[in-house]
Amino acid sequence: MRILVTGGAGFIGSEYVRMLLGVPGGTAEGVPALEPTAVTVLDALTYSGNLANLDPVRDDPRLRFIHGDIRHPETVEEAVAGHDVIVHFAAESHVDRSITGAAPFVTTNVLGTQTLLDAALHHRVTRFVHVSTDEVYGSIDTGSWTEDWPLAPNSPYSASKAGSDLLALAYHRTHGLDVVVTRCSNNYGPYQYPEKLVPLFVTNLLDGHTVPLYGDGGNIRDWLHVHDHCRGIALVQQKGRAGEVYHIGGGTELTNSELTGRLLDACDAGWERVVPVPDRKGHDRRYSLDISKINSELGYAPSITLDAGLSDTVHWYRDNRAWWEPLKAAAR
Ligand SMILES: NC(=O)c1ccc[n+]([C@@H]2O[C@H](COP(=O)([O-])OP(=O)(O)OC[C@H]3O[C@@H](n4cnc5c(N)ncnc54)[C@H](O)[C@@H]3O)[C@@H](O)[C@H]2O)c1
Repeated sequence: MRILVTGGAGFIGSEYVRMLLGVPGGTAEGVPALEPTAVTVLDALTYSGNLANLDPVRDDPRLRFIHGDIRHPETVEEAVAGHDVIVHFAAESHVDRSITGAAPFVTTNVLGTQTLLDAALHHRVTRFVHVSTDEVYGSIDTGSWTEDWPLAPNSPYSASKAGSDLLALAYHRTHGLDVVVTRCSNNYGPYQYPEKLVPLFVTNLLDGHTVPLYGDGGNIRDWLHVHDHCRGIALVQQKGRAGEVYHIGGGTELTNSELTGRLLDACDAGWERVVPVPDRKGHDRRYSLDISKINSELGYAPSITLDAGLSDTVHWYRDNRAWWEPLKAAAR
């Protein structure tokens, strides 16, 4: 099976590539054997894309890297040719950036997805896995979303992801393209660009700096280790039903304050290092996914507890300063 992974130099996409290629002693446990004969990464290497994320599999002869943009039809046509499956991660992914500048979110997330879908049709790709987010549903005070819940995104990021989800599903209904959509909760783990909450807070704390906490700290998220997300995607790629949406979550729901407390403990720091900052515009209060569909149909359950996952993650950032220090220096 020849697999094209878009955004495979980013945080989650690179975990998927490392998992597909079975890094020794690494992340292959409990993952369905997809047995790729070739894995091609198509990535524009934006600020969050980083070839170093693929270092552990760099010498695998099955891996090929294409530096290209999913918004460019010619690049995409060439990249898609000869592949059986597309797993589509490439996106602008940070809500805060979408608030200050929405244009790349619309062009990459919506138009880029449409460009890929057209190429998938043209090259008769046998499965298109579209990786999406719980943020497309908006915010929920109590209970949990099921896959048939109406979409009500609140940020330009989530609106652009909702647009791309609907396009992907429309290509299934209109053209019969074999599309599956996954919607996942908040991920954490190694190789996450240090602008998102967990790596930003951990690296700031390790450097002796303060951390910014939005609003009253009461926003609730479900935190899932990136490896559990990728295991879920692999199951959907292998056994999901065409035209269906699958939730991947089931981590631990915490307020941002509770998560901050855990990160402070893990980094031996106190609350004096936390600086409250004005709330994010349109900040969703709570996300919560019902994962009974993927659990009953595909046998998915998360395998990494938040305690173990956060502890490993803090250790990884502590041990891999050479990975994140240049990224933070470049962002200054
Ligand atoms: N991070 C999360 O918690 C989370 C949760 C649920 C779903 N998702 C989804 O998972 C996917 C991956 O997220 P991530 O956190 O790994 O993001 P990321 O920002 O770390 O990685 C995105 C990757 O896409 C590449 N990219 C961006 N624009 C591109 C373009 N025009 N052409 C080609 N490549 C391009 C970047 O270079 C980068 O390598 C996204 O689709 C995101 O919406 C993320």
